[in-house]
Amino acid sequence: MMTEKKGTYYITTPIYYPSSNLHIGHTYCTVMADAMARFKRLSGYDVHFLTGTDEHGQKIQTIAQEAGMSPQEYVDKVVEGIKKLWETMEISNDDFIRTTEPRHIERVQKMFMRMYEKGDIYKGEYEGLYCTPCESFWTESQLVDGCCPDCGRPVQAAKEEAYFFKLSKYAPALLELFEKNPDFLQPDTRRNEMVAFINQGLEDLCISRSTFDWGIPVPIDEKHVIYVWLDALTNYITALGWPDDTELYDKYWPADVHLVGKEIVRFHSIIWPAMLMSAELPLPKQVRGHGWLLIDGGKMSKSKGNIVDPVKLIDRYGIDALKYFLLREYTFGQDGIFTNEVMLRRMNYDLANDLGNLVSRTVSMIEKYCGGLVPGAGPEDEEGTDADLKSIAVSAAAKVEEQMDKFMFNMALEEIWILVRRANKYVDENTPWLLAKDEANRERLNTVMHNLAEALRIVSILIYPFMHTTSKEIRKQLGIWYADVVWEDAFVFDMLEGDQVKKGNPIFPRLDIEKELKELEEMNKPEEEPNIPLELKPEIEYDVFDKIDFRVGTVLKCEKHPKADKLLVFQIKMGTERRQIVSGVADSYSPEELVGKKVVVVANLKPRMLRGVESNGMLMFADNVVDGKERFEYITTLADDGNPVT
Ligand code: ME8
Ligand code: MG
Repeated sequence: MMTEKKGTYYITTPIYYPSSNLHIGHTYCTVMADAMARFKRLSGYDVHFLTGTDEHGQKIQTIAQEAGMSPQEYVDKVVEGIKKLWETMEISNDDFIRTTEPRHIERVQKMFMRMYEKGDIYKGEYEGLYCTPCESFWTESQLVDGCCPDCGRPVQAAKEEAYFFKLSKYAPALLELFEKNPDFLQPDTRRNEMVAFINQGLEDLCISRSTFDWGIPVPIDEKHVIYVWLDALTNYITALGWPDDTELYDKYWPADVHLVGKEIVRFHSIIWPAMLMSAELPLPKQVRGHGWLLIDGGKMSKSKGNIVDPVKLIDRYGIDALKYFLLREYTFGQDGIFTNEVMLRRMNYDLANDLGNLVSRTVSMIEKYCGGLVPGAGPEDEEGTDADLKSIAVSAAAKVEEQMDKFMFNMALEEIWILVRRANKYVDENTPWLLAKDEANRERLNTVMHNLAEALRIVSILIYPFMHTTSKEIRKQLGIWYADVVWEDAFVFDMLEGDQVKKGNPIFPRLDIEKELKELEEMNKPEEEPNIPLELKPEIEYDVFDKIDFRVGTVLKCEKHPKADKLLVFQIKMGTERRQIVSGVADSYSPEELVGKKVVVVANLKPRMLRGVESNGMLMFADNVVDGKERFEYITTLADDGNPVT
């Protein structure tokens, strides 16, 4: 059968931050997008599926710096791994956009100019709070317990000259969008949150930064880089060639759906539409916010280090088993808890037992009882098992379509498994091994085997969007490896007769859950770092050490050394005494951030001149990296002001 063409379908995932390797949460989103893209292609749409990486911003710059690499070197390395992951998983994206590509950079600048020329961008001063991991600006009142309302991490005060986008101007149009087009943002709960957010009062959005430079330059002011979210969101049209090479853009824009995690729904359903309104471009048809995969009750996150690595799971269980689990276990829009045990049970019960068993018994019985050829069918049985199996088989595709329209991947798979389980029950009801004992039952036996082969053929079509490799393997065993998978063929029964089946290996091996659990746990244990003694100066006696007088001091004042870039000049107060000390820490600290801090002082070191400035003692610092490397602070918990610490 031929599939009629149904028009275009453009689907996107978020472009992920290449701050480190991706985890199972990103995989979950991409696997959903891939299943949808494959489903739409199979049902006749001309699909464009885009994913990519969001490579600019302060966070990436800082992480690269800490890794001792340039930001470009750093992202090149991580992006290579991300691309490889999607290739390994046979993700069917049509394009992969990197925000560091010239095609993107030039077009983002054009987007900026469109909004600027519209009169929607002005210069002002930004004063407020910034969450670097989320690359988000907040006001005091938006904070939750003084921290970022999205991720709960500390925010930093930021004050700088910046460009602003008149987001507030678009509040009425956005409210109208949500009201008139309830489908624009799904699920409904997400829409209610966004309406509430707008009603709180939308502030203009700071869209440039000047305190770091890893970003796309503002075309009218090279001191500034474009805010990473404005840069990133525009990927959905720059990848289509807007505005200078519009073949794909004309064909696929507006997008049918932006699939995103719930924490970035705000950017996609408020900021992005407002940007498009400003640039007078059509809005995407839909934003769909999915829930989070949680681990130990919290969100998996690269910076928290509690991540599940998809590569390890694929190596062990295969791509299709992992994809099936992700799509079957979780309900779109809701959070779900990831555990190895839940995963292993799904793999064992649904894949090894239900589907694997159906395939292996159907194919081996056709080999054993029918000479390996799918027989034709005789009349239906009076008990109605044939009719029941057929009706479930031919109506499953429409039910899958209905669930897929709602992004209910789990329910779509459940509809398919209703058929799988019905077919297994059909085997037990009709007991072919008993029929085979008497040649008088030949016609009945043939009918049963025919119907099972047909049910399995339909299953092989239905699972294609979710598990294309398994689909092909089943078709190979059924002897229909040569035929294209055609969605419409899932609506008809009785297509097979005389096809030569061939038993293969079990499609999903049965897992020993207890053993797997132990081994997974073992695998995920953090490797203990080897304890290698440092190379040190010769040991000293206690009495030598005891000659040093340590004190705790407070930094009263700190300035740059007039003649040396690496030195800072401190005025330190220790108890009753004030004195000047020079220290070579200008690379690690800015003078302002040290004022008021406590520091350990070697107080009886002989004074010396450092590039013409007197230093009376030595300061001792330690870096204290605050939650995921955001900034430096140093530890001062050793003793109270002025008291010796030894
Ligand atoms: O936000 N559970 O990138 P990102 C489920 N660059 N999904 C998860 C997840 C989890 N625990 N963790 C991540 C960014 N995701 C921006 C996007 S788009 C113009 C710019 C998925 O690397 C989920 O889809 O933080 C989430 O929205 C996305 O990864 C965020 O990836
Ligand atoms: Mg994130």
